Amino acid sequence: MFASSHAKQSFPRDFLSQPSFEKMVGENMVGVSLKAQHYQTILEQLPPLGWFEVHCENYMGAGGAPHYYLGRIAENYPISFHGVGMSLGSCQRLDKDHLFKLRELVDRYCPFLVSEHLAWCGTEQRYLNDLLPMPYTAESLDVLVRHVDEMQTTLRRQILIENPSSYLEYRGQDYDEAAFLVELARRSGCKILLDINNIYVSSCNHGWDALAYLRSIPADIVGEIHLAGHHVRQWRGQEIRIDDHGSNVCEAVWALFENAVGMVGIKPTLVEWDSNVPSLLTLLQEAGRASLIMDKISDRVGCHGG
Ligand SMILES: [Fe+2]
Repeated sequence: MFASSHAKQSFPRDFLSQPSFEKMVGENMVGVSLKAQHYQTILEQLPPLGWFEVHCENYMGAGGAPHYYLGRIAENYPISFHGVGMSLGSCQRLDKDHLFKLRELVDRYCPFLVSEHLAWCGTEQRYLNDLLPMPYTAESLDVLVRHVDEMQTTLRRQILIENPSSYLEYRGQDYDEAAFLVELARRSGCKILLDINNIYVSSCNHGWDALAYLRSIPADIVGEIHLAGHHVRQWRGQEIRIDDHGSNVCEAVWALFENAVGMVGIKPTLVEWDSNVPSLLTLLQEAGRASLIMDKISDRVGCHGG
């Protein structure tokens, strides 16, 4: 592993203490993606979910139905903001306009978590609507630490960074992905959003050891867990797993989640579903299964939060 030096850090550590999730939602630690198809049903039925997560870019417009519904749902549930467009891994400067729009949203809705991706989305000349993989080098880590610091300082709060799903690896890297994330958290003061499906997808695609990956992540830097579905495709005679958030969580990912909860403890956990969106009942069933696994591990080892 590459031993890097400390970057100058401007992010004030006082802001590291965020509202306690447990105080906000009591015992229910499982949330689901908030989709427009479910707005009305949620308001009518107030289903027994701990929280909802939104892609904040969908709420950067001035008003209209998205803000009407998000405002009403936020009166009843904690909300988490999950960004997909900050391009923190780009070597070019952050888009200030995007960052300030996000700050306005954060000030308006006071989400209990704000997260982004370990990825880049293009250059100043061309935005690609995708989460592109980063090389895990000392140089790219310096860039990322600087950008995470800028984002946290602008928002005046801690953010979480999510591990990606990937299909290609760069040559000549200084870190493996887990070590890169741990170093990022140590140097920037951010936390990690551990996406179990992404770990599984990348491990299958690259031949990584998913359990070794989990063992490399200290429990205290994990602030949230994601679960999602993916699909399997054949490509040039090889099996490749594609992360599309469009189906139920597969059995292997449930098993890996159980291992993860045993290692990092009970964390706010999200069932993500972004394509082929099913009924709210299906999301509730997936959330219920996640809760059962968390209860099982909690009873077994007596772990609470952390
Ligand atoms: Fe995710």
